[in-house]
Amino acid sequence: MGLTSSKCVRHDLFPTTVMTFEHDAPTLNASLAEHFLTHPRYARADQAEQSDYLNLTDLVDETEEFARLESMFARALGEYCRAIGWRGDFDLSMQMFPNVAPARHYVPSHNHVAHIAAVYYVQTPPFEGRPLIDADSDMTDYWRPEEGVLILHDPRFNASLNGGWQHFARVYPKPGLLVMFPAFLWHEVTPHHSNAPRLSVAANFTLRPKSEGVYEKRIDFSA
Ligand SMILES: [Fe+2]
Repeated sequence: MGLTSSKCVRHDLFPTTVMTFEHDAPTLNASLAEHFLTHPRYARADQAEQSDYLNLTDLVDETEEFARLESMFARALGEYCRAIGWRGDFDLSMQMFPNVAPARHYVPSHNHVAHIAAVYYVQTPPFEGRPLIDADSDMTDYWRPEEGVLILHDPRFNASLNGGWQHFARVYPKPGLLVMFPAFLWHEVTPHHSNAPRLSVAANFTLRPKSEGVYEKRIDFSA
């Protein structure tokens, strides 16, 4: 008896696009580091709590390095949008905010209120012999503490509950690295113990298609 023929097609639905952009920018990073480490604005004890309320794009006229960062983020956003198939004209809302993290500082698991998020690393502890992104480690490795890494969690809701779907990725950052990802992607930063603070700038992007206003009314509303 012959075998019944069948057709098997694989569909990798709902992929999560994460893009990395590596910049060779030691001069820019040195200026940014000096700025973050000497300006009193970033020396507050509650810097992490207040960071979200600061938009470095408001300071591009007084700090040239922020203007350069803004254009790096904008270039990366263009690449990212092309990669995920977002085309057209948009009204873009953008925020850049600093992360000045002394030893033992960590960032709990969170996502961002935006469409697309990104982070640019200015100063990080060194990682010898590590890949930029490791997404292939066994789940038992998930519980191994590692200093100063960015952990990206599987965004599929409760996918890990029954095992089998347990996936995660670690980003081993280095100065000049820009990572861009969907803002819904849960992520966290583990503590580091270096004497030098870990310095990065995060960014949020919200894109509203210009054509959207045709059927939506914008109203001032208070509650
Ligand atoms: Fe974040």
